[in-house]
Amino acid sequence: MKLLITGTAGFIGSNLVRYLLNHVDDLQIISLDSLEYAGDKINLENIPGGIESDRHRFIHGSICDTNLIDEIATEGIDGIINLAAHTHVDRAYYHPGVFIKNNVEGVLNLLRATARFDIKRYLQISTDEVYGSTQPEHPFDEKAPLRPGNYYSSSKAAADLYIAAAINTDGIDAVIVRGTNNFGPYQFPEKVIPFFTRRIIDGETLPLYGHGQQMRDWLYVEDFCRAIWLVFTRGVCGEIYNAGAGNHTSNLELSKKLVKTLDADYGLIKHVADRPGHDFCYAVNSDKIRKLGWRPDADFDTKLTETVIWYRDNQEWVNSIMTKSSADPDDESFFEKHYRHRT
Ligand code: TYD
Repeated sequence: MKLLITGTAGFIGSNLVRYLLNHVDDLQIISLDSLEYAGDKINLENIPGGIESDRHRFIHGSICDTNLIDEIATEGIDGIINLAAHTHVDRAYYHPGVFIKNNVEGVLNLLRATARFDIKRYLQISTDEVYGSTQPEHPFDEKAPLRPGNYYSSSKAAADLYIAAAINTDGIDAVIVRGTNNFGPYQFPEKVIPFFTRRIIDGETLPLYGHGQQMRDWLYVEDFCRAIWLVFTRGVCGEIYNAGAGNHTSNLELSKKLVKTLDADYGLIKHVADRPGHDFCYAVNSDKIRKLGWRPDADFDTKLTETVIWYRDNQEWVNSIMTKSSADPDDESFFEKHYRHRT
């Protein structure tokens, strides 16, 4: 089977490629990534067989590039798994247009190619954020209305609606997976776990938004990769599958766990001005994917500790990916604008 997987130089994408090359035989992957601030080929360096092999080929490019997608599709592919997206809520606040371009127009481009080239299956990585905020005891199932609460989640919700339209209009075969907050190695250090870990190691304060009681359901990335593959191979066309871990943890509790793991001082935790429109909690009901045969295996505390240690022991990776990022003028201004005046 030959697949186009997009966003493979990013966090979940690189973990998915590694997972598939380790666990699935007879699979050829064409990897596509636009290598923007958070995506780096360094994340693929240690995949089995290397970046260029008979099982894996890397192409630098964007899902928004119609000619490029057509060119790839012409050589014959059996499916597309789309992980290419801008994902950081705080960035979406400053540059919502970038999110519409990549997360909506880019998806539409892939959907039209799926139809034109008769590609057998399209899988979209969506997010629990499309349902908006709730309480852990009131999780949303897949039929819940879409009530996105920020400029990132609204772009993901829009993409999900375009997928429904493409199934209905062009008759494509598509499935959607909505995961909860992923964590694990190779996550760009703007997301709270690697960001706070890096700050603790550097002896810097942790800018905890608002009261810090907001909660996220932390899903280990390898568990999510299994969910993606299961839905790609066994999911029913047109269906959406939630994948949650059941690890609801407040941001304050999470910050304390990170500080404790690195044997640092709790005084590093500093409450700062809240994120505008900060969603209190995301929670999903995962019964449907469980019926397909999935359940998360990871023990949260064990994997969180391993993840923190991975960032501590991979300082070279952290420095390299951050150096690339700060070389980007837009990115420099993001950190400046966003964090400088918060503490
Ligand atoms: P984040 O990793 O940005 O993921 P998302 O917003 O998609 O859930 O943030 C996770 C939680 O951590 C979220 O509730 C916001 C909070 N947070 C902070 O308190 N301070 C920070 O500097 C960041 C980046 C996040």
